[in-house]
This record gives sequence, C-alpha cells and structure tokens, in this order.
Amino acid sequence: MSTTNITTPVLIAGAGPAGLALALTLLNNGISVRLIDKDLEYHAGQRAIGTSPRTQELWNLLGVLPDIKAVCVRPKPICVYKMPGGREVLKEFTMKAETEPAPSIPYWHTVGLGQEHTQSILRSHLANFDCHVELATELVNFEQHIDHVVAQIRNVQDGSTDTVTCRWLVGTDGAKGVVRKLLGLTFLGESREEHSALLVDLHLKGLDREHWHQWGALSDTFLFIRPTEYKDDSFSMIAAGNGLDVEKIVANPDEIGELVRSRTDRDDIELGKIKWVSSYRPNIRMVNKFGEGRVFVAGDAAHVHSPAGGQGMNSSIQDAFNLGWKLALVEKGLAPPSLLSTYNDERLPVIAKMLNISTDLWDRTVTSDSGDESTWNRGGELLQLGIHYRWSPIVLDERFDTSLDLKSVNPYGIAGDAVRAGDRAPEAPGLRKISGPDALGEITSLFRIFGPSYHTVLVYAPDGQGPGDIATAARRLPADAIRTVLILPKAAAAPAAVTSDLVLSDEDGHARAGYGVGDNDVMVVIVRPDGVVGGFVRGAEGVGRYFDMIFGSV
Ligand SMILES: Cc1cc2nc3c(=O)[nH]c(=O)nc-3n(C[C@H](O)[C@H](O)[C@H](O)COP(=O)(O)OP(=O)(O)OC[C@H]3O[C@@H](n4cnc5c(N)ncnc54)[C@H](O)[C@@H]3O)c2cc1C
Ligand SMILES: *[C@@H]1O[C@H](CO)[C@@H](O)[C@H](O)[C@H]1NC(C)=O
Ligand SMILES: *[C@@H]1O[C@H](CO)[C@@H](O)[C@H](O)[C@H]1NC(C)=O
Repeated sequence: MSTTNITTPVLIAGAGPAGLALALTLLNNGISVRLIDKDLEYHAGQRAIGTSPRTQELWNLLGVLPDIKAVCVRPKPICVYKMPGGREVLKEFTMKAETEPAPSIPYWHTVGLGQEHTQSILRSHLANFDCHVELATELVNFEQHIDHVVAQIRNVQDGSTDTVTCRWLVGTDGAKGVVRKLLGLTFLGESREEHSALLVDLHLKGLDREHWHQWGALSDTFLFIRPTEYKDDSFSMIAAGNGLDVEKIVANPDEIGELVRSRTDRDDIELGKIKWVSSYRPNIRMVNKFGEGRVFVAGDAAHVHSPAGGQGMNSSIQDAFNLGWKLALVEKGLAPPSLLSTYNDERLPVIAKMLNISTDLWDRTVTSDSGDESTWNRGGELLQLGIHYRWSPIVLDERFDTSLDLKSVNPYGIAGDAVRAGDRAPEAPGLRKISGPDALGEITSLFRIFGPSYHTVLVYAPDGQGPGDIATAARRLPADAIRTVLILPKAAAAPAAVTSDLVLSDEDGHARAGYGVGDNDVMVVIVRPDGVVGGFVRGAEGVGRYFDMIFGSV
C-alpha cells in the first residue's frame, strides 16, 4: 500500500465545457474530484453555440439534457442582405443541421445554446454532488510519481501556493493550457491569424429575432448578427474579413457602432449595452498524444481548429466522456491502468479527422461569396452520429474478421453501414418492462436504460433462454458495473426463472431493427458507459472475452 496522503483522487484543471463534463461523468461514477479554474469569474460569452446530436446523447446519459432542452433554440433562417443598402434580402436560406428523425435517432438536429449557459447548467448539476468550481485557482506545475501526482496550485488573488496530491490529473485548461506544455506534448499545425474574428455579445434594436442576419462574406467584409436564446434584446455578433483590426476594437469597444454602420450600410440598428467582447484566432493544431502516465489532456488543451462546422465544444465533451468512465474503473481498482491508453487510441484518429473536415470546410467558407449556402451545411457527418472506434483494441465483434485493417476507415463513419462494435449505440423506443425492479408494464427505451457508470448487456433471445448463462457470467464481474437486460420479441412469454436485471418486450421491433438483430437471432450486444457499442458477441463466452479486455482477467 502506498503511504502517500492522497487529498483527492482526480484533479481537473480548467472548468470549461470539457472539465465540467469530465467532473460530472466522474461524480456520476462515484469518484470525487477537485475542479479548479484560474479565472476570477465564470466565463461569459456565447462562444461555442451548437450542440450536435451526439453531444445531446451524452447530455442525456448525464441527465442534463432536459435542462439544456428547456432553454436551447433551433437555428433560424439566415438572411443575407444586398450591399450597398443592407436592407434588401439577397438570399434567405436555412442552415442544414439535421438528419431524418428515426426511432434510432431521437436527437436528430443540432440545438443552439450559448456556451456560458451550457456551462452554468453543468455547474448546477455538479452542485447536486456538492462539487463547486474553485475559481482563482491556477495549476502552475506538477510532478509525476509511480502511484500519484503532486500538483502545485496558486491562488491568483493573493499569490499563495499549495500542493494537491492526487492520483490523476487532467488538463482541460484550454488551448493555452499548461498541462500539455509541462507534459512536453507537441501541438503541431498551423495558425490562421489572418482570419481573426471579433465576437461581441450585446443588446440591440432594429433587427428581428426570427432570423440570423448576414452582410458580406468572409472573403471580404463579413458581419453576422444572431439573436441569442435570451428572451430580451440580446444578440451575438461576429465580424471578420478584410481590413478588420480585431485587437484594436477589443481594446476600444466604442468603435463597434461604427463597424456595424459601415458593414451593414444601415443607420437603423441601434446598439445598446455591450455585454462581452473578445477575439477569436483560428488555429489548427493537435497533440501527438492525449496524455502520459497519470496525466491527461482533453478538449481545447488537446486540439484546436477552425470554428467552421465548429466541432470544438462537441469534440471536447466527447473526449471527456471517453476518458471519464475509464478513469473511474481504474480509480476503483476494477480495471488495470492500461485501459487508459485506449483513450488515446480511440480519440486521436477521430480528432485528426475532425481537424481535416473542419479545415476543408473553413477553406471553402473563407473563399466563398456571401450567397453561398453550401458552406452553411452542418448536416451529414458533422452531426457526429457516425463517429466510431471500430479499430479500438477494446471493442469486440464476433461477427466479423477483425484482422481487417480498420485503421484506414473513416472515423467519422461509414454511411449506411449496419451497427458494429465501436459504433454509437442506437436508441430503441417501445420497450415494455415485463420483469425488473420498478413500474412493470411501463414503456421505456434503451436511452433511458443506458447509464454513464455501467455497461449494459443486451441479451437477444427469442425463447427467453439466452445463449448460455449470461447473467451468471456477468455476476462474476464487478457488481454495479454491469446491467443485464433480456430483450424478448413481442408477445413472448417471460422465462420462468429471471436471471437478468431487467426483461423487456420489444413491442415495435426497434431494439432488433436498430441493432440489426433478426427476429430469431440469438445475440448479445454490450453497450459501454459512454453510449458506444463495445461488443457484439454470440454467448456467455464472448461476454467473458469482452470484459477480460476491460477489467483484465477476473
Ligand atoms: C473567445 C473565444 C470564442 C470562441 N468562439 C467559438 C465559436 O464561435 N465556435 C466554436 O465552435 N468554438 C468557439 N470557441 C472554442 C470553444 O470555446 C472551445 O472549443 C471550448 O470552450 C473548449 O472547451 P474546453 O473546456 O476544452 O476549454 P476552455 O473552454 O478554453 O476552458 C479552459 C478553462 O481552463 C482554465 N485554465 C486555463 N489554464 C489554467 C490553469 N493553469 N489552471 C486552472 N485553470 C486554467 C481557463 O480559465 C478556462 O476556464 C471559442 C473560444 C474562445 C476562447
Ligand atoms: C457541434 O456540432 C454541430 C453539428 O451538429 C455544429 O452545428 C455545431 O456548430 C457544433 N458546435 C460547436 C460548438 O462546435
Ligand atoms: C483532408 O483529407 C483529404 C483526403 O485525404 C485531403 O484531400 C485534404 O487535403 C485534407 N484537408 C486538409 C485541410 O488537410
């Protein structure tokens, strides 16, 4: 046993979306955290506004989706105005950020919510665990040891320093963060300083709230004004393009009125209070790896990219989720530390592809003219429903020859392909509870059964018998870390002796159709705590093989 006095299991440096999502994932797993941020106040600003369907699924797992849905807004039609004059509509179109709704895809469109708002919702959920962001607390240095990390933190207000002895340290400290630097990770890529943008959140009168308003194009003088989710006269503005001295305006916000007048050619837009002014400099960079030893990076600390198709906050949250459940299992002693290397194995190719997609889109955006709506397409792979980890060393699909070189597949998805191990786990509604702990007869869905702190083992057995004794196999594994669910076809009789945690009747066949399991097929599908299919296996032996990869031999 170690004699080191651990003061907290996990120290998280940086309370942006990535740090907040990671903290909430760990707390849901029963792991306590300290979450510090060097800023004196919570971040203001709309910044990243779009939440992809895939991110909404993660919010669902964490139980924060209802709060997000209650305040978010759908994208509005975009009006591009003719110049000079700036009032006549040159073109009106809607940003495409959706797919067809389907039983397997309940969240089928992007929703919009200012980053400040998303963050405050996450903090309110952390408060339910009695966890609060420690503001004005900066991580300055750390030292790694065999079984712990000693971190130096500094109170930004009075300059006093302290040490935190933790078992794990995660840097969610943003693009300029220190954790990546102290680890000596590279951050290669390029800067696109020439495309700096000015961001302003403000009150104004003279524009309707049912449209997003655009003058000019990024290739010349671009001004974009969008109503926010607030119910007052708040808008968010982005200016970019030729001849804009962004830093000068950040230093002299008085110049914003003149900027709006000159770029819209209108004098009827009346500016009110300026709430927040900032600049955004597109950089396209990523780390060579997501951590070293007991220290990891996630979010902007690991990757930055252009705002086009802005996969920024979405990807940061998905990093946090991928790392969170693994770290929890290792911290509890249920899984070997080697599980943590799969965080890098899984996220690195996804992020590399994400940089490629967003850069291509950005290059098209900055060269297109103002009426080109194709650059506003945020559908398809940008919805992130296709992101998968089929090549991962910890996924198992007994139906396929895994010697195939999966490294060359597109990590953002193979359109139209049936679900495989490594893919997003689809939703399936219309499931009737016929045996289990509560509310029998109630109709439920897989998305209400999956959870962020356990694997869900779906057993498809037409005769209720199951392919070998899965429940007994699962019972040898760590309790609480696994839930077994027997899925019967509609109208099948419940088995006499129920060994799984829950028995469901697949009333409308969605649980079979969504997972490509035939009516008479016997199959076991294992869904990870992050909503990814970990395994498609044929029986108890396969279940054992899968969990050996996660927990080590038990
Ligand atoms: C001004 C601005 C505008 C943006 N606009 C857009 C946009 O329009 N669209 C878009 O898609 N994305 C935008 N982004 C990017 C988006 O905000 C990020 O992708 C997202 O915030 C990433 O989340 P994160 O948690 O990884 O990092 P961040 O949100 O950057 O959070 C990092 C946190 O770490 C803290 N921190 C830093 N160093 C330390 C330390 N040593 N110790 C303790 N705490 C530390 C910081 O104070 C900060 O709160 C913008 C970013 C900025 C800065
Ligand atoms: C998240 O992804 C969606 C695509 O569905 C995109 O429209 C949105 O801009 C992204 N948001 C951020 C903040 O990256
Ligand atoms: C993205 O990948 C494609 C295909 O490999 C390539 O043609 C393109 O140049 C890449 N774009 C960037 C910005 O790297």
